[in-house]
Amino acid sequence: MDKSVQVLASLVDTLPPEFVRPEHQQPGATTFSGAAEVPLIDMSMSNAGCCVAEAAREWGIFQVVNHGVPSEAVAELQRVGIEFFALPQEEKERHALDPASKLRTEGYGFTLGRDSDAKKLWGEFLYNIAAPPAAVNLEMWPQNPHGYREANEAYYGHMQRLTRTLLERLSVELGLEQGAMAEALGGDDVVFLHKINFYPPCPQPELALGVPPHTDLCALTVLVPNEVQGLQVSKDGHWYDVNYVHGALIIFSNGRYKAVLHRAMVSKDKTRMSWPVFLEPPLEQVVGPHHQLVTDETPAKYKANEFKHYRYRKFNKLPL
Ligand code: SIN
Ligand code: FE2
Repeated sequence: MDKSVQVLASLVDTLPPEFVRPEHQQPGATTFSGAAEVPLIDMSMSNAGCCVAEAAREWGIFQVVNHGVPSEAVAELQRVGIEFFALPQEEKERHALDPASKLRTEGYGFTLGRDSDAKKLWGEFLYNIAAPPAAVNLEMWPQNPHGYREANEAYYGHMQRLTRTLLERLSVELGLEQGAMAEALGGDDVVFLHKINFYPPCPQPELALGVPPHTDLCALTVLVPNEVQGLQVSKDGHWYDVNYVHGALIIFSNGRYKAVLHRAMVSKDKTRMSWPVFLEPPLEQVVGPHHQLVTDETPAKYKANEFKHYRYRKFNKLPL
């Protein structure tokens, strides 16, 4: 492998040209300083379901507090992630992502190669599948740091509960049965893909990005960031910061609800990290508009097809 971004970060004091974004993508030139704020929802309130649906419709992203995920579980997830990325590059590469695997990406790496203008990204990542049991490949899970697996398994249990609640509320607000979305995602076979993003300090953060503008492919993403500001979302043609709220989790919706265009900035003197969990259908699951939502007035916008078809096309930059 080439030098990792973390190794490079320790060697350079100007940004190498292969990381310089075209001007229309540079955060320094394109961040809007207006006041729109991503909705913050208290999950313990009785009207949380309606707020969640409205935010998913209007924004495609919202933050939740009183979400029931204990702060110790989040802290432990973060501890093992921080310790993994502090390991020497050779050790991280023992879990390197297999570039030949086009469908389920698991393991450590940097630059996913799906960036349309072939610019490099100022970040590294680690993916692991946490569920369902049949899809878990423990060989891809780091042995080091101690407790990596336990922390991720415990966090997965909390993600399972939280996403069940969110999917129920989103289903009901669309006029569907409570379990409709969970079922459409494959029921107990739904895949929980854990990711860690690691963005080391960058000499010229105003010119670079950790993650380019994109929408997530999965049905729902739950993300916990560290305290370093960096996530931005596009709304009405402007890029807005998603303000860091201590203890909050960030939720991205998709499908009939909006899938928000977002990107990640990097920082000059701090390491930014984030821990998204992606909720995806099994690869063979046929996904498409829910039949109860397709009417003469609201015809299907997508063809039903196996999820692996969408995943393959998205990661290989083919039209969907
Ligand atoms: C991503 O969308 O993949 C990363 C977002 C973040 O780091 O906040
Ligand atoms: Fe994303």
